[in-house]
Amino acid sequence: MCGIIGYTGPLEARDLLLNGLAGLEYRGYDSAGIAYFNTASQVRIIKNVGKVAALRECVKKTAEVSHCGIGHTRWATHGGVTDKNAHPHRAGQVTLIHNGIIENYHQLTEEYGLGDKLVSQTDSEVAAWVLDAVYRDCRHDPLAAIGAFVKKLAGSYGFCILFDDRPGEIYAVRNVSPLVAAYTRSGAIIASDLTALISYTKEYFVVPEGHIVRLTPYKVRVYDMDYNRIEPEMLEVSWNMDAAMKNGFPHFMLKEIHEQPEALRNTILPRLAGNLPDFTADGIPDELFLDCNQIRIIACGTAMHAGIVAKALMEPLLRIPVTVSIASEFRYEDPLVDGKTLAIVISQSGETIDTLAAMRLAQSLGAPVLSIVNVKGSTIARESDHVFYTHAGPEIAVASTKAYSVQLAALYMLCCRMALTRGRCTKAQAGQFMEDLLAVIPAMEAMIGQSDHIRSFVRHLIRERDTFFIGRGLDYAFSLEGALKLKEISYIHAEAYAAGELKHGTIALIYDNVPVIAIATQDHVFAKTISNVREVKARGAYVILLAKEQAQLEDGVADMELRIPDLEDRFTVFPIAVALQLIAYYASIGKNLDVDQPRNLAKSVTVE
Ligand code: M6R
Repeated sequence: MCGIIGYTGPLEARDLLLNGLAGLEYRGYDSAGIAYFNTASQVRIIKNVGKVAALRECVKKTAEVSHCGIGHTRWATHGGVTDKNAHPHRAGQVTLIHNGIIENYHQLTEEYGLGDKLVSQTDSEVAAWVLDAVYRDCRHDPLAAIGAFVKKLAGSYGFCILFDDRPGEIYAVRNVSPLVAAYTRSGAIIASDLTALISYTKEYFVVPEGHIVRLTPYKVRVYDMDYNRIEPEMLEVSWNMDAAMKNGFPHFMLKEIHEQPEALRNTILPRLAGNLPDFTADGIPDELFLDCNQIRIIACGTAMHAGIVAKALMEPLLRIPVTVSIASEFRYEDPLVDGKTLAIVISQSGETIDTLAAMRLAQSLGAPVLSIVNVKGSTIARESDHVFYTHAGPEIAVASTKAYSVQLAALYMLCCRMALTRGRCTKAQAGQFMEDLLAVIPAMEAMIGQSDHIRSFVRHLIRERDTFFIGRGLDYAFSLEGALKLKEISYIHAEAYAAGELKHGTIALIYDNVPVIAIATQDHVFAKTISNVREVKARGAYVILLAKEQAQLEDGVADMELRIPDLEDRFTVFPIAVALQLIAYYASIGKNLDVDQPRNLAKSVTVE
């Protein structure tokens, strides 16, 4: 959740760290800090509550020069948002930054008698003191000390460490929490995320778990826990810096909404052989689809909502049970999973800890795992049995948009291939399915073209405290994501309900003028949904209705309408997703909120 960067080399380290942190801020943004060796080889720490811009102002007040340092943006877990709890933390000879959670920090506090020493309430400071003690025990041998240190820890961590008597050197180690590193012409660099590296290099490696990395101005070395040097597997970044910039858009979220048609093209087209889906290049064999008698989809948040859409698509087509589980629940529900279960794990970041743990559980129960992941080389991608990489490019806004639509595209393609493999459709039907899938791209473009009209809805939304989303079947599945998007960035209380369920309780919440966003794109339940629209309208709701161009609507059934292109029913999610994302975006703008970095959230949820 936190952003981490470390640099050693000829460039001015403080500037580089601050610029890197600005790019990583989306990972956590309640406080920020840097630590560096100054020209007298002393470690200096500057940290404070607030964003990186505030830290930059503080740093400007000191005129020091540095060529080696570490930096951190925090998303608080242990201890409130205070200057003292901000990273880096210092203990004796050790200064460190940490992403993750040290679960046994209480025991360590007692074991090392740290009660009086601690100046913060963080688990990370406890870790710093433990490392300092071990460093002394190991006679200042960094590798031996880090090796002994991690044996004492339970939990997840990505650490970057400075030792007072090792100026110019940075050490790092990780368990679960991500770290990537590179040696570049401008020095050695390590970070929690590629966005911090991309200005300096295209070649990088994922720090292997349970290994120690040593960065000096001249090289980056990786050691296993027996202190043998290993050569990490080098990867190449497949996108450029432009992809991680706003490029003229006022916010990353708006840019990423606009990037969706391109992201879909990039994800779908390379996987078409003729007009059929083909995963040969992904190494996903057809046997995977043949050998299963149930599918378990596991994910969190928006990715889980993509799974709910997939269930509604897959079950009627494949005629096998498809269950969608929230990863944090799956872990503790003693799930019914065996070797005949295909587990589909969905994650944009590939680092979400609950999803990762649920995936490991599914694997331990014998299920082969196919992951749908956006970030190349991420932990979920590496540990799953097969990966379908989506090609959305970096998603920076905390609210997921383009990642959702490419996850859907991936799921639609997988469903099509599965149906073909299992004899549930003919080649001609599969070809038509793919043609319908490609037709969503211009439909999404058309929706983006309606941005001004969509913007006009939110005047009403932002005046009210609640918003309800209703729909049936697939439309209900889309509503769940619409409600999440709205609450996440506009802080308006929003709930999605199956339209037919309203009268079993929820309709009591309908009051004069409360906005209801009704989605009615599924022909077989269209009339039923419209009846439910009338029910809420009769009780005073202000209805915004999303329906296809061709839908016949009587005057007065809704207060506002948005027409989407006439796609086959199963494909309307794509333009609807764009519309719901834009509604949330403009509601956030209308309330003058921080669209890209909403309160209390962080992009990559690497704590349980
Ligand atoms: O990286 P992941 O796809 O695993 O992330 C899952 C959720 O944390 C994520 O989708 C979250 O719900 C988004 N902020 C929603 O916009």
